Amino acid sequence: MAGPLLPTLLPDTAQVLEGDVVVGGVSLTELAATYGTPLFVYDEATLRARAAEAAAAFDDGVAFATKSFLCGAMARLAHEEGLCVDVATGGEFDLVRRAGVPASRVIVHGNNKSEAELVAAIDAHVHRLVVDNFDEIARLRGLVSATRPVSCLVRVTPGVEAHTHEFIRTGQEDSKFGFSLSSGDARRAIEELRSIPGVTLHGVHAHIGSQIFELDGFVATLRILADFTRGDSFDEVCIGGGLGVAYVEGESAPSLTEWGRTLRAAAAEAGLATTRLLAEPGRSIVASAALTLYRVGTVKPVAARTYMAVDGGMSDNPRPVLYGSGYEAFDVARPLAERSRSLRLVGKHCESGDVIIDEAWLPEATGVGDLVATPVTGAYGYSMASNYNRVPRPAVVFVADGVAREVLRRETFEDLARLEA
Ligand code: LLP
Repeated sequence: MAGPLLPTLLPDTAQVLEGDVVVGGVSLTELAATYGTPLFVYDEATLRARAAEAAAAFDDGVAFATKSFLCGAMARLAHEEGLCVDVATGGEFDLVRRAGVPASRVIVHGNNKSEAELVAAIDAHVHRLVVDNFDEIARLRGLVSATRPVSCLVRVTPGVEAHTHEFIRTGQEDSKFGFSLSSGDARRAIEELRSIPGVTLHGVHAHIGSQIFELDGFVATLRILADFTRGDSFDEVCIGGGLGVAYVEGESAPSLTEWGRTLRAAAAEAGLATTRLLAEPGRSIVASAALTLYRVGTVKPVAARTYMAVDGGMSDNPRPVLYGSGYEAFDVARPLAERSRSLRLVGKHCESGDVIIDEAWLPEATGVGDLVATPVTGAYGYSMASNYNRVPRPAVVFVADGVAREVLRRETFEDLARLEA
């Protein structure tokens, strides 16, 4: 038995009314009627508020991690709010450049950057290239010169184990990312990079994982980085992304402001008061700004439980299947009703694992044809969406001040067929 959904999981501008929920001044019922379902709805005010909060909490050069959610409109929004953007592949780099973000505001990551990706970054004069491995350093030696320079950070693994799911934990020594501090590789990488004319090394970078609620792991990492770089006279340190968000009732996460304040204090204590303090939040900027609208297609009671199937599933939200992530659901037309009925909310894909919420609570009356929404789907939903079972990707709308704008249209069967030779 669950009460009505708590507004804390909804975007900042959400208004819960008697028979509808309004976000950004736009009715969710009307959005579903206009754009169809499944539909990602992003509240632009929430996106802008979180992006501006991140920009204020850290120093200039703090970046939005585009892997969490990327389209042209999102890249521009992050840029307008004063953030750099971090890309991890040539595809992300291409999109942010098409969107008009200047290369001087792009940070290029990747644990296996191709020569073409390195050339594109160097030729465009990106803000920072984050160097990951010795093979990349060897490639840079052939590409960079005094007349073809590049600004870098070195990615290191601090040996900190974050309290999060194993697949999204990255700071530990046994990792495919970065140079190990304890083995001496990180020190050797710094020396090698310093020997390449044209490379300017600004500092070190560490990313310990994602969906982290406790700030102590970030603080420990910062201290380790401070100790490691004492005497290097670097001017930047980047703590990566990873700040967690609340997905279900009962969870609570520190704000971006608290994250920045805690790290700023730790940096000062560790002797980094004059070093630019940077981060790369993704999830904490976009997750709670969005919700997904689905239409219920069938309700099937079996002996063990009731299955409620909607018109999306693991193709638009693979996180429950991949990480066992929890979500809440609410009935858009009955947002104030008690959610007294337990059921399994599933998608339309051809496998039993296609579960959106293992035990969802919805009002007794919710049934076929109704609109069900899952909040906090703004991060790693659309960006990890697939066409499994040749299901087209949903449309994405941004809502603000009573107006909806489609920033990504729904895929069509023609789109899906376009790669046929
Ligand atoms: N910086 C680096 C180097 C990263 O690898 C990541 C995320 C971020 C920043 C942004 O982290 P965030 O603030 O979003 O936690 N698909 C998984 C999350 C994978 C995170 C990968 N790296 C999920 O859905 O939980």
